[in-house]
Amino acid sequence: MAATIIDGKSLAATLRASQKSAIESLAARGARPGLAAILTGNDPASRIYVRNKARACEDTGVRSEFHEFPEGTSESSLLECIGRLNADRAVHGILVQLPLPPHLDANRILAAVSPAKDVDGFHAVNLGALLQGRAGFVPGTPAGVMRLLEHAGVALAGKNATIVGRSTIVGKPLALLLLQKDATVTICHSKTADLAAVTRQADILVAAAGHAKLITAEMVKPGACVIDVGVNRMPDGKLSGDVDFAAVKRIAGSITPVPGGVGPMTVAMMIVNTVRAAELSLG
Ligand code: GUN
Repeated sequence: MAATIIDGKSLAATLRASQKSAIESLAARGARPGLAAILTGNDPASRIYVRNKARACEDTGVRSEFHEFPEGTSESSLLECIGRLNADRAVHGILVQLPLPPHLDANRILAAVSPAKDVDGFHAVNLGALLQGRAGFVPGTPAGVMRLLEHAGVALAGKNATIVGRSTIVGKPLALLLLQKDATVTICHSKTADLAAVTRQADILVAAAGHAKLITAEMVKPGACVIDVGVNRMPDGKLSGDVDFAAVKRIAGSITPVPGGVGPMTVAMMIVNTVRAAELSLG
């Protein structure tokens, strides 16, 4: 039987709509949520992501501003901008779009963002809170994956959840979130021996490796839930995930499409985090 398609686009729209009344009530109290996005360099995908985030802000009533820096910008220019945004009471969330150009030290730049405005959840303080199971800002993509799993009614306790990809913004935080829900978690990566043997054990398989169609039908346990975090531009200009969707949907129990799966949830969770940052700013 063909897999159930998990519709992230529609869940994200519902989630964004659910934030509107909170946003208007914050605005009435003089704290309309405000998000500042910093884009550095010429990465076309990053430009699209930032544009999508700005549209989501406009759609929900979050004020957004955009700060653009050229490819060769200096660390001090970025730090100066972040310092100003940290001090600006109209800005509740700051996101530094990644990747940064290679001459910049991303960890040093991210460390400059006030943890209270770190709506991407990339600051060590927020990642540390996640590790310890304390409240903080959780990165949007893993938070969005957890919402999708919950919405799709996927049981996690005692299940094998396997993540392909060990990035700090998806794989590692997602592993912690899945552990909090009592899944048995495995992280695979480029050095994993016999990837297919590991992925075939997964009741929940998350592909976040950044390789188009890496996950083929033979790598999937029949009936598994397959979550595709990948966004890869193919030679024909179309987008493809890290999963061979056409083949895997015949094997999986449920699956997210690309586009229209995890991507819109990342954006929606960033709105949720920005609204929370604005609420916390009021004390
Ligand atoms: N690059 C890829 N994903 C993300 C994200 O969620 N936030 C930011 N800031 N950059 C990214």
